[in-house]
Amino acid sequence: MIAYSAPGKIILSGEHAVVYGRPALVAAVNKRLKVKLAPAKRKEEKTPEWKQIESVVFEYLNSERIDFKIKDYKIDIESDIPVGRGMGSSAALAVASVACLLEFFSGKRFEKELVNNLAYKIEKYFHGRPSGIDNSASCFGGLIFFRKEFEFLKVISKLNFKIPDNIQSRLYLVDTGKPKESTKQMVDFVGSRLNENPSRIRLIFSEIERASKQMVVAILKEDLELFAKAMQKNQDLLERLGVVSKRMSQRLKVLQDLGAYKITGAGGLQEAVGFVLFLDLSGEGERFLKDQGFSWSRLKFDQQGLVRL
Ligand code: MEV
Repeated sequence: MIAYSAPGKIILSGEHAVVYGRPALVAAVNKRLKVKLAPAKRKEEKTPEWKQIESVVFEYLNSERIDFKIKDYKIDIESDIPVGRGMGSSAALAVASVACLLEFFSGKRFEKELVNNLAYKIEKYFHGRPSGIDNSASCFGGLIFFRKEFEFLKVISKLNFKIPDNIQSRLYLVDTGKPKESTKQMVDFVGSRLNENPSRIRLIFSEIERASKQMVVAILKEDLELFAKAMQKNQDLLERLGVVSKRMSQRLKVLQDLGAYKITGAGGLQEAVGFVLFLDLSGEGERFLKDQGFSWSRLKFDQQGLVRL
């Protein structure tokens, strides 16, 4: 039996702009997806998604003339990453599955870089035009400053510092529910806004880039106020981009009185916007979230990324 596990992620700053070559800051979180493959006597019926994952792996093994044996197997997937809420569940599936299949068929273990490149191909099948940030966070873990320069060149800088305690201890994940729109639809929506009004949208992307860099500085300097400022600035810009539904935008505004907040991931147009990152500066956050009927959890980060079990 071969098993790998990969974490989910949250984008601290820079979602959407990252699709267009701007940098973003992402962190792997301590929610994981586990894939187990065990030899089987009979062929199992596979989903179209799984067939796609398998074909990417076979294509790679064939193109590199790596020896491998085709064998029947049973798949077992377990996950505590919420699906469709901006926490990178599909990326974690792609990363853990690629690692498992490569080893199952070839008997060899592969570098994370290679697993990440193949997982990116799968993400493109799932989401159309992803930046590659989700699979990179899941594969490498930790805190990553990510920038896609070209389709074939992504700068994935794993930062050698962590989110300091004075910030982490005030961070919450607030669940607004599963957006009606998929990540692909949200990315397409921003694409159409960019076509309609390139100069305005590019200006928003430039300001998002500034907020993302400000957030890196805030983390490095352990500057809570600067972190809150960068976070709220990023939220305002995402609202201007149109990826936060009017309804949620109004409901969430109350959180600003207690600190700062932003959506994390692709957002939503009609109602729910997935998970929202909330920084409580007041010390009243938990009570307030409860009174307002929000569902929330504490946020913990992951340093390991892809792990062989
Ligand atoms: C999705 O987690 C983040 C987006 O920026 C899309 C992407 O980068 O692939 C919305």
